[in-house]
Amino acid sequence: MYKEPEILVGLDLGTSKTAVVVAERDSRFQEPQIIGVGYAPSQGIRKGLIINLEQAVRSVRQAVRDAENMVGFQISEATVSFSGMDVTSVMSRGMISLGRTPRQVSIADVERVIEAAQSELSIPSNRVTLHTIPVKYSIDGNSGIDDPLGMTGIRLEMELQSVIIPTTVVQNIINCVESAGVAVNGLVVKSLASALGALTDEETRAGVISLCIGGGTTGVAMYTDGRPVKLSVVPIGGDHITNDLAYVMKIPISKAEEIKKMVSLLPAEEEQELDVDVRGRTVTFNVQEAVDVVRCRLEELFGEHVMNQLAEYKMHMFPAGAVLSGGVAKTPGIDFFASEVLNVPVRIADPLDMYQMPPGRNDCEYATAAGIVRYMSSKERNPYRFIEAPVSQLRSGVSSLAQPAVGKSAKRNDGGSVRSVRGLLEYIKKSVKELF
Ligand SMILES: Nc1ncnc2c1ncn2[C@@H]1O[C@H](COP(=O)(O)OP(=O)(O)OP(=O)(O)O)[C@@H](O)[C@H]1O
Ligand SMILES: [Mg+2]
Repeated sequence: MYKEPEILVGLDLGTSKTAVVVAERDSRFQEPQIIGVGYAPSQGIRKGLIINLEQAVRSVRQAVRDAENMVGFQISEATVSFSGMDVTSVMSRGMISLGRTPRQVSIADVERVIEAAQSELSIPSNRVTLHTIPVKYSIDGNSGIDDPLGMTGIRLEMELQSVIIPTTVVQNIINCVESAGVAVNGLVVKSLASALGALTDEETRAGVISLCIGGGTTGVAMYTDGRPVKLSVVPIGGDHITNDLAYVMKIPISKAEEIKKMVSLLPAEEEQELDVDVRGRTVTFNVQEAVDVVRCRLEELFGEHVMNQLAEYKMHMFPAGAVLSGGVAKTPGIDFFASEVLNVPVRIADPLDMYQMPPGRNDCEYATAAGIVRYMSSKERNPYRFIEAPVSQLRSGVSSLAQPAVGKSAKRNDGGSVRSVRGLLEYIKKSVKELF
C-alpha cells in the first residue's frame, strides 16, 4: 500500500541567518533525505537572542517561504534550533536496584534510573531542562554499556546530562516561530544540532570537540564514547570580528564584514595592501593589520573561552581533535590557527548530508540546520538517546523536573506526542513491531 512520505522540517534560527531544511522519509526506519534548504538573512537577533520580535518573525517567514518555493508544498511545523547564550549542561547520577537476584533490565527500570538521576538536580524556577541525555550506563559496576535494555544484573547506574536554559529564551523562540505561522514540534540547542550535522560516528566514538562558530555565538559540544558529555555556548562569533575590524580600521560595519571575508590566516608571501571604497573615497589598508585583528579575536575564542570549557577534561580524551563548523569556519587557515592554539588536530566540517543539499547551501554554515533533521530522526529511532521536554511544557515554563520529561518528546506515527510513561511503552512496542 502506498504511504505518503513523512516530512521532517528543521529551522535554524541563527544570529546572521535563518535556514530551513526540509527532508522526506518513506518509512520511519529509513534515513530521511533532504529535499530543500530555505534561507533568509536574520534580523532582530543578537548573540542568538531575539531582540526585536517583529523583525525575527519576518526572517522566519521569509526563510520558510524560500524553502516552500523549493519543495513545492506548505510547511506547517518544524523542530527549531537556536543559539541563545546561557546554556548550561549539568551531569547527575542515578542508581537503582534490580532486586536481590539478577534479572533483565526492563523499560520501566530505565525510566526509574533516569528519574533517579533527574531527582539529583535542582533547577532554578526561571530555568527549564530542554534536553535530558543519558550518557553512560553501568550494570553491577561494569561501565560503558551502550543500551542496558534486556541486559542482566542486580544494580543499574547511569550518568545523565541535562541541558538547562532560561525559560524566557525558549518562550521567545517558540513565540517567534509560531507567530510566523509554523508550529514548533521540538527544540534543540545549536551546540547539539551542529555536532549531529557535522561529526562522524568514528569521531564521536573516539572523542571529539565540535565548535560551531556562527555570527553571534560559538556552540561547543564535547563527545566521548559516542555521547555528548558537555554542551555549552560561548558568547563570541563572527560579528565580534566584524565589529573589531570596523573599530580598529574606522570603517562602517558593512565594509568591515566585506573585508573580514577576504582575510586569510594562511601565511602570506609578501606584505599586501587593499584598496577599499569607504563612503566614496578610496582608503588603502594594510592586509596584515586586518589579519591581526581577526587572529586576536580568534585567539580569545579558542585560547580562553574554548579552553575554559575544556578545563575539567583532559585533552587526550578527544583524540579526534576539534571539528569546526558555522560561517566563521570558512576563514581560510582557521583550521591551522585553531590547531596551533588548542594543540589538537582540527578539521572544517561540511554537513554530513551535504550531497543531498543544494550547492551554495551545503557548506559548514549549514551544519546546524542539517543536524536538526538528524536529531529528529535519532530521537524517534531511540526515544532514550535524546529526551526533550515537550513544547507545551516549555511554553508554560514548568520545569521538567516537576513532571519528568522521560520520553515525552517521542512522536507517534500520527504525529501526536507520547504523554506518559505508559504512552512511551506503547510507542516503543509499536516501534519494535514495525521494525520486524
Ligand atoms: N567566508 C567567510 N569568512 C569569514 N567569515 C564568514 C564567511 N562567511 C560567513 N562568515 C561569517 O559567519 C557568520 C555567520 O555564520 P552562521 O551563518 O553560522 O551564523 P548564525 O548561525 O546565523 O549565527 P549563530 O549560530 O551565532 O546564532 C557571520 O559572522 C559571517 O560574517
Ligand atoms: Mg548558527
